[in-house]
Amino acid sequence: MLEQLKELAAEAEKEIKRVGSLSGLNDLRVKYLGKKGPIQEVMKKMKDLSPDDRKVAGQISNDVKRNLSDAINAKKEELELAEISKQLRDETIDVTLPSKKTIIGGLHPLNAVIADIEDFFIGMGYKIALGTEVEEDHYNFELLNLPQDHPARDMQDSFYIDEHHLLRTHTSPIQIRTLEAAKGEGPVKIICPGKTYRRDDDDATHSHQFMQIEGLHVDQSVTIADLKGVLEAFAKHIFGAKRQIRLRPSFFPFTEPSVEVDVSCSECGGDGCSLCKQTGWLEILGAGMVHPNVLKMSGFNTPEFDVSGGEAPRYQGFAFGMGVERIAMLKYGIPDIRHFYTNDMRFLKQFK
Ligand code: FA5
Repeated sequence: MLEQLKELAAEAEKEIKRVGSLSGLNDLRVKYLGKKGPIQEVMKKMKDLSPDDRKVAGQISNDVKRNLSDAINAKKEELELAEISKQLRDETIDVTLPSKKTIIGGLHPLNAVIADIEDFFIGMGYKIALGTEVEEDHYNFELLNLPQDHPARDMQDSFYIDEHHLLRTHTSPIQIRTLEAAKGEGPVKIICPGKTYRRDDDDATHSHQFMQIEGLHVDQSVTIADLKGVLEAFAKHIFGAKRQIRLRPSFFPFTEPSVEVDVSCSECGGDGCSLCKQTGWLEILGAGMVHPNVLKMSGFNTPEFDVSGGEAPRYQGFAFGMGVERIAMLKYGIPDIRHFYTNDMRFLKQFK
């Protein structure tokens, strides 16, 4: 019986040494030390021994069980340690690996052009003024010298909300609101970026919703020469130092005289090409000297309507308005205005 116990112990120790997992080790614990295990089976035979032999056999079997239990516990510690080391090894972060590529968005080209134009005019001492997209007819037309039934209203086909409100057709009403807020006291020197709406059919150069930037400078001695100087510097800033501008007579009810401003063609430098339709010039904005009626209606004293008999300062100034999409199209050679609004990533990514 003692021989049997020793053999079992030797066999168990071999198996414990070989086992490679905690679950395998647990199986061995059940196998050798469990109630139905071979050691228990051998010990059942102790009842057939003499009292002295039983005492010795009892002690030996207890020693065998304790040794096996110690061996199992030691192996358990060894396996747990190995498992933790493996986990630590597997979960190590290699800080030298290249990081994942993050996709960074960019400004929409129209916003980038607006920011550039704003920077330029802020540098020239202009402040930024904003208005609302739903505007009163009074500010969008009447105070801009376009009374009800004025034929020039047809130039800007409008989206009316009700009889007196519409989606603004241009950023010019911000001129009026700013002049009114100044209460007849200059100088007023602002640019006004914003969305505008017209009932135009969408095509390569027209959109029912587009962006404009308005400019207004009113003071006591502002002249059309100042307008030309500012716009020339602006054209060079946006299109390049070699660009020239020219003023052509035009008509807007809120400016007198009114001009259309062209910049020399960025593609051919003025020789004539398909972009400028062989003229050498590209139209970029409308402008003019603010009509005395507009200044008068907004509460400003002017040389034409001086009710103070020369006592109060007299104001005059210029205004201009440009389409941001058209500027961006000319600057980047974009053939179709609809690219700005269709959110095609292949188009937008080019401006990052
Ligand atoms: C005006 O809107 C005047 N308020 C500009 C102005 C302001 C003149 C101050 C004088 C003094 P016009 O209708 O020409 O003018 O529009 C100005 C610019 O807006 C055009 O040159 C063009 O670039 C752009 N624009 C007009 N309609 C559209 C449209 N449907 N889609 C895209 N851009 C447009």
